[in-house]
Amino acid sequence: MPQLEQFAAPGSEWWRSAVIYQIYPRSFADASGDGIGDLPGITARLDSLADLGVDAIWLSPFMTSPQRDAGYDVADYRDVDPLFGTLADFDTMLTEAHARGIRVVIDLVPNHSSAQHAWFQAALKAAPGSPERARYIFRDGKGENGELPPNNWESVFGGGMWERVTEADGTPGQWYLHIFDPTQPDFDWTNEEVREEFRSILRFWLDRGVDGFRVDVAHGMIKAEGLPDYTPPADADSMGGEEANVPYWGQEAVHDIYRDWHRVLAEYDGDRALCGEAWLPTLKKTALWVRPDEMHQTFNFPYLKTAWDAEELRDVIRDSLDAFGAVGAPSTWVLSNHDVVRHASRLALTADNPQGEGIGPLTPYKPDTATGLARARAATTVMLALPGSAYLYQGEELGLPEAMEIPDAFRQDPTWFRTNGERYGRDGCRVPLPWTADGPSFGFNDSGASWLPQPAHWAAYARDVEAADPDSTLSLYRRLLTARREHGFGSGSLIWEDAGADAVAFRRGDVHVVANLGREPITLPADASVIVASGPLDGSSLPVDTAVWYTARE
Ligand code: GLC
Repeated sequence: MPQLEQFAAPGSEWWRSAVIYQIYPRSFADASGDGIGDLPGITARLDSLADLGVDAIWLSPFMTSPQRDAGYDVADYRDVDPLFGTLADFDTMLTEAHARGIRVVIDLVPNHSSAQHAWFQAALKAAPGSPERARYIFRDGKGENGELPPNNWESVFGGGMWERVTEADGTPGQWYLHIFDPTQPDFDWTNEEVREEFRSILRFWLDRGVDGFRVDVAHGMIKAEGLPDYTPPADADSMGGEEANVPYWGQEAVHDIYRDWHRVLAEYDGDRALCGEAWLPTLKKTALWVRPDEMHQTFNFPYLKTAWDAEELRDVIRDSLDAFGAVGAPSTWVLSNHDVVRHASRLALTADNPQGEGIGPLTPYKPDTATGLARARAATTVMLALPGSAYLYQGEELGLPEAMEIPDAFRQDPTWFRTNGERYGRDGCRVPLPWTADGPSFGFNDSGASWLPQPAHWAAYARDVEAADPDSTLSLYRRLLTARREHGFGSGSLIWEDAGADAVAFRRGDVHVVANLGREPITLPADASVIVASGPLDGSSLPVDTAVWYTARE
């Protein structure tokens, strides 16, 4: 890794300020032409990411998997699924990324495995009480003959959290716990054998040269003792994030696991990093995930969930800087990922849409495309001016909206099936990217196949069209990333400024950042010299749903 430093001075490690681009491999670029993106596809497109100016990429899972939850159901943690290529393809991708100065973070899914994992298959064959069963959470059922689940927990994807097995002798048997789909049995993280296995999996990928891990469902790995019944409020977010004391989210003992992993990563050079996916009720609690001896980053989901409202946005930024600052960690800002409605649509929604719910043909409230895009561009212009690290989700640099018109017959998200179509789920943010306005599947591959249908109007968002247009969202992202680097915005502090109740306004050094979240234009100083703006300015007035970085003499 010639261009990347071995170890940075404490406080200046790369992950503190990095802009990390999330690749959802099945939808990024498809070299094989089977309609599902792959690792050679990523390698072939790395130049476009270097050109965008990101510091690192995070890849959603590409390991061996029956793909019941798009790869978040891993059957072999040490191999690549043939859908995505081979381990050699992975090594090539990693080498090529590093050659361009781009670090590589991979997804680790430790809360559960696939039901096809050798350990779970062995557990099914083994007897109740056996060491094979002890790697997962098997329990006897309630009721006279064990016919009722061990408790009342509801799965994130809908339905109950328990599945009953048939024992080797053909009789109805024990139940196992699955926070997600029944094909995703939860590991028992109180079992030392599970812990040792994951230390070894971490080392397998660290030895290959990965720069870090995004840790899936980092807040779910430990369940409260005794597995007590729990009924969430009707409007609860299924991944948690609102209520305290949920017996399967954010249990204190998860922190031991991350302390242990921190020590494993510290054995390696290059400041390898862990980033947690943890949906927690408060920023203070979220910040506990990144105490100095635990994870390095954790997604700032309270920020992602903030509506387009100036006061709420100011508050969440202030509280984030306080909470993460108190533990000496950066905030890890994020607006979109593969589990939420894309922010170019979400920020114009007129109703709540919790994580995983989605928008589809029959959703009564549909966001206005132009409003959503203007707000998304402004929101990103604010985000990339904030101190800390920021994650981008593939396609947001094109201003892609949520694909809202996917016909039912094409849907793939288990959420859609487990709720009998009540929740559309996450397919709308996972549609393969448009690279070219012309050609099969907008340049996603050469064959025209696409695992989810691409909306016809996406030609206008194709990368080749946007690359040639100085006013495009892609050109905006490039300018923001260049200026962010030039001004060192990833670190340092922020000074609040007052530009009215409907503005979010602060200063980074001599650069002023103002976003207009109100209904009236905001007047900027007459001598404002614009560095970058999310949309056209009207003389020295900042239109609604627009943000700007500028310098001025006064
Ligand atoms: C995480 C992933 C999501 C997946 C779930 C189960 O929330 O981001 O896509 O469905 O975990 O692994």
